[in-house]
Amino acid sequence: MTRLANERGAINLAQGFPDFDAPSEILEEAVSALRGGQNQYARSMGHLPLVRALSEKIEQDYGLLFDPHSEILVTGGATEGIASAFLGLLNPGDEVIFFEPHYDSYPVCAAIAGAVSRFCTLRFPDFTIDFDELENCFNERTRVLFINTPHNPTGKVFTEAELARLAELCIRRDVLVFTDEVYEHITYDHAEHIPMAKLPDMRERTLTISGAGKTFSMTGWRIGWVSGPAALIEAVQRAHQYITFAPATPLQEALARGIENIDAGFFRDLQRVYTQRRELLLSVLEQTGLKVAVPRGAYYILADFSDIWEGDDRSFVHHLIDQSGVAAIPPSSFYTAEPTEGKRLVRFAFCKRLDTLKKAEKRLKKLYTQ
Ligand SMILES: Cc1ncc(COP(=O)(O)O)c(C=O)c1O
Repeated sequence: MTRLANERGAINLAQGFPDFDAPSEILEEAVSALRGGQNQYARSMGHLPLVRALSEKIEQDYGLLFDPHSEILVTGGATEGIASAFLGLLNPGDEVIFFEPHYDSYPVCAAIAGAVSRFCTLRFPDFTIDFDELENCFNERTRVLFINTPHNPTGKVFTEAELARLAELCIRRDVLVFTDEVYEHITYDHAEHIPMAKLPDMRERTLTISGAGKTFSMTGWRIGWVSGPAALIEAVQRAHQYITFAPATPLQEALARGIENIDAGFFRDLQRVYTQRRELLLSVLEQTGLKVAVPRGAYYILADFSDIWEGDDRSFVHHLIDQSGVAAIPPSSFYTAEPTEGKRLVRFAFCKRLDTLKKAEKRLKKLYTQ
């Protein structure tokens, strides 16, 4: 969709990357690191200043203690962290349970490790967990339950009660949890992000994947990290060492400095600005006759277009791009078990400047209020 958006000069509300820059203080740190001789291989598990800064950050944010030397691994974006976790910890034939819709890389990475994926569907517009359906996905080969909170593309933020039931299930079935928390700092309406590793007895069986791309608006830096108990991290490292070895040293150095210098105000501002963007896009979409699911986290809106368009999601996004010059994502590819769930939905990303969103508003209004 990004390629198509570029070809057609459309406003790209499809792919989830910001159209504004990363914090200038961190960019300056990167220039200093490049000029300051930080240009050779980094420590494969993560540049020491960065793993130390991450360990402190995680303790400050959630009160969770991870040893910077053995319990935090820096990866080439969260995507590589996810792939290395599967490759390091799964054997062919092991099974992983995902919720769908899901970020598209998950089952592909599981397949590369030879693992079998099973899916429990979250249904529009509430995306509540059907625990009976989930329980039916488990069998004696299940090794991992994979969760993502705040969730792309639904905006669901898993509640403490949901996490507690999931934790109970994983302890009873003796499976690991991999949790993708890349949107940990982007929540709305006082929704609280609770890391699965904080729940009683879960730290020992949980690998948490996060990254700098979403929080610091630097998706192109490709810096992610995995935290968890040393034995699990060691297994992930064995894959990571032969995949990317280490992300770029000067960028790790700059991010370490950035994290050390950033205060609580940065995270409050992030929430405030994203709330404005969310409000603007929600009101635009509601005016066009789409039924929206209001996200409580992350930076996407899923909407049902079936009142205004008879075709499927692919035909709708092509119509949208042709007629209004706005690009969005057809989400049926985020579903595997029940692709029909996604066929009446469209996903818009609002990690864009307010003036980009206002331009999109004008274009969409022209199309739907004639
Ligand atoms: C849920 C989720 N996980 C992971 C990623 C990828 O993160 P990274 O760019 O750090 O690889 C994305 C990107 O959109 C995402 O939405």
